[in-house]
Amino acid sequence: MPPPPSEDSAARSGVGQVSVEVGEAVVNLAKRRGFVFQSADIYGGFRSAYDYGPVGVLMLRNVKEAWWNAMVQQRADVVGLDASILSPPAVWEASGHLTGFTDPLVECSNCGRRHRLDQLADPERCSHCGVAGDLGEPRQFNLMFRTHAGPVADAAAEVYLRPETAQGMFVNFANVMRVSRLRPPFGIAQIGKSFRNEITPGNFIFRTREFEQMEMEFFVPPPDAARWHEYWCAERLRWYSGLGIPEALLRLRPHDADELSHYSEATSDVEFRYPWGWGELEGIANRTDYDLRAHAGHSGQRLEYHNAATGERYVPYVIEPAAGATRAMMAFLLAAYHTEEVRGERRVVLRLHHSLAPFKAAVLPLSRKDALTGRAREVLGILSPHWMVDYDETQSIGRRYRRQDELGTPYCVTVDFDTLDDGAVTIRDRDSMHQDRLPISKLVDYLSTRLAD
Ligand code: GAP
Repeated sequence: MPPPPSEDSAARSGVGQVSVEVGEAVVNLAKRRGFVFQSADIYGGFRSAYDYGPVGVLMLRNVKEAWWNAMVQQRADVVGLDASILSPPAVWEASGHLTGFTDPLVECSNCGRRHRLDQLADPERCSHCGVAGDLGEPRQFNLMFRTHAGPVADAAAEVYLRPETAQGMFVNFANVMRVSRLRPPFGIAQIGKSFRNEITPGNFIFRTREFEQMEMEFFVPPPDAARWHEYWCAERLRWYSGLGIPEALLRLRPHDADELSHYSEATSDVEFRYPWGWGELEGIANRTDYDLRAHAGHSGQRLEYHNAATGERYVPYVIEPAAGATRAMMAFLLAAYHTEEVRGERRVVLRLHHSLAPFKAAVLPLSRKDALTGRAREVLGILSPHWMVDYDETQSIGRRYRRQDELGTPYCVTVDFDTLDDGAVTIRDRDSMHQDRLPISKLVDYLSTRLAD
């Protein structure tokens, strides 16, 4: 990752800082161990998008599962949705994205490099070639990807890839309220891909053109909106710290009035301290009744809460915690990366929260002798109905432990020659490296207890 130079950059790691070197080491580890690959790698790479490898796909699923668990499963007031990615222009006309979802684009006539004007340290000077005064007039560049549905590529067939999952939840507001029998305050949650034609994608998976979001629209009586906004800011901050990000790497930053999106009355970002400084991890907005009123106006449908018994009728306000699954995965990786000296050797370990670790355990036969690998595969068969478990019989046991440390695997289960006689295995803890010996019959209970921590 080439982090842009910033005053916040520092070449050291500590609880309150992820250094530039750690940022580079995490990108390197992500590729080497199969978390994240550059998309279309064999064709020289495609900077806008990334592929999640055999280990990364497990971790990304765990991030999404942890979010779903907190935002849907454990809440009686939130239900889920999976809306389509393709949507007609009417949706984006109503939401204001067709006109308002733009970034100011400038192009340097000296070197040809394009920039987002609001990201330049000096708005007069090209940050690539350093020449001042050649950037020209900014033009508003719409970030939505447009394509055509069906065989004829005319204006009538125009559709858009969604730039946020949110609108799918607004247009389904009435459907969901009817079938779920919920009344405000209640929420609709969704995880899925979004697409933005970012002018400057970069910093690894921090800003890409294709990414995954985890968003929840929480519909509340308008007088309660400010209180719920505060509530969700605190909840979301707690979610990240509960999953292992040190508090020194997290902060909540309210937007200034001139930063607010076209739909927002108040927004606070959960920010993470990336190697290049503080940056957005999640935005929590008070979207007012902007979206429901806009869709009601454009569609001619009533989008409001109506209590037939009391006659009460109002358009709810919306509090929206909007997170990025892929960006969150990056923050969890950066925060989990640790190095330490063990008996004169450097050990790299991902101290991932157990629920986020790609594998919960790895089964390692001490040698490749058939008797041991056969027993080890039996142990794998006992564990794999419960958890994602890795199996590795290559290289020395020390190197295999190091590999599992780099994958963040909380427990290694070693099958050795004594196992054949006593039916016991050795379990090594990732963080303390402490080893316990116990009968195979007690393994599932042992891991269940510890993984639940
Ligand atoms: N519905 C509101 C909304 O989309 P946002 O702040 O634009 O708000 C929410 O996006 C989250 O989605 C961000 O905080 C970030 O985690 C993620 N996100 C946005 N654009 C992204 C991109 N280009 N690449 C990766 N993640 C992105």
